Amino acid sequence: MEIKTVGVLGCGLMGAGIAQVAASAGYTTVVREVEQSLLDRGLGRIRKFLDDGVQKGKVAAEDRDRTLANLSGTTGFDDLADCDIVIEAIVENLETKRAAYAGLEAVVGHHTILASNTSSLCITELAAATTRPDRFVGLHFFNPVPLMKLVEVIRGLTTTDETYRAAFDFAKSLGKEAITAPDRPGFIVNRLLVPYMLDAIRAYENGLGTLEDIDLGMKLGCGHPMGPFTLLDFVGLDTTYYIANIMFEEFREPVYAPPPLLKRMVLAGRLGRKSGRGFYSY
Ligand code: 3HC
Repeated sequence: MEIKTVGVLGCGLMGAGIAQVAASAGYTTVVREVEQSLLDRGLGRIRKFLDDGVQKGKVAAEDRDRTLANLSGTTGFDDLADCDIVIEAIVENLETKRAAYAGLEAVVGHHTILASNTSSLCITELAAATTRPDRFVGLHFFNPVPLMKLVEVIRGLTTTDETYRAAFDFAKSLGKEAITAPDRPGFIVNRLLVPYMLDAIRAYENGLGTLEDIDLGMKLGCGHPMGPFTLLDFVGLDTTYYIANIMFEEFREPVYAPPPLLKRMVLAGRLGRKSGRGFYSY
């Protein structure tokens, strides 16, 4: 099955990144947002990343122009009719996703693969919310999408070999490394990363050290690009809290239970970089 045209639902942080890497890999790419203002913001983010890349000497000006020429935005579903694969990267809410899938399936062809970038919902359950559970797959990208090399490919119970293989090859065609992850909360990376970040919060609450010392310790002592609190602020405390709750609900193991401080920071609106304050101020 040949993929030529790519659709992306959602032009937030993840959707914009996915649309950018698809357009940059040469695919005709259409990204959909629900409102023009959100679309403009997402497309603006892509333009800025590419312009910054040109300024840093990391992106050739002609590659930026080619990427932007391959990319278009829309607020409707009709423009996605010709897509061979559509990657959904909208809010982590089953009902909202179900409504988006219904709108999409009214226009796309029978062959179109539907992929979700969900980081917390069950791929088999999402697949069952469509009329194509056999052509549904998980494609989990990492933030920032243009810089992070990994994509987790998740097959639900109903995903066919053909769909899985096409999605895996597609991820590789974006210049990413692909790994196969199980349809279990957290897949592979978040299954290990989330308990690590929760443990850092618990350790901080118990007086292990200052935020700065714990971060510097893990950064310089282990060669991590960011310490756990910088990473928590980067990922978003609300996102981490949400994923932790889903993992705890499924596994019922204390290691996935969100610590009290995390819950209170989310309640206080200290969500990390995006809200201007998390463990650090921005
Ligand atoms: N265009 C092209 N290249 C660019 C660029 C741009 N606009 N901006 C930066 N780059 C390049 C830089 O030139 C540099 O390249 P080099 O290594 O060849 O010199 C590289 O990207 C890194 O950029 P910077 O030097 O500006 O920044 P840092 O070195 O601080 O790296 C980072 C930034 C990549 C975000 C790094 O801090 C990092 O890897 N952090 C961890 C991120 C992480 O863990 N993400 C996963 C979160 S979990 C997740 O997403 C799952 C979800 O489900 C929760």
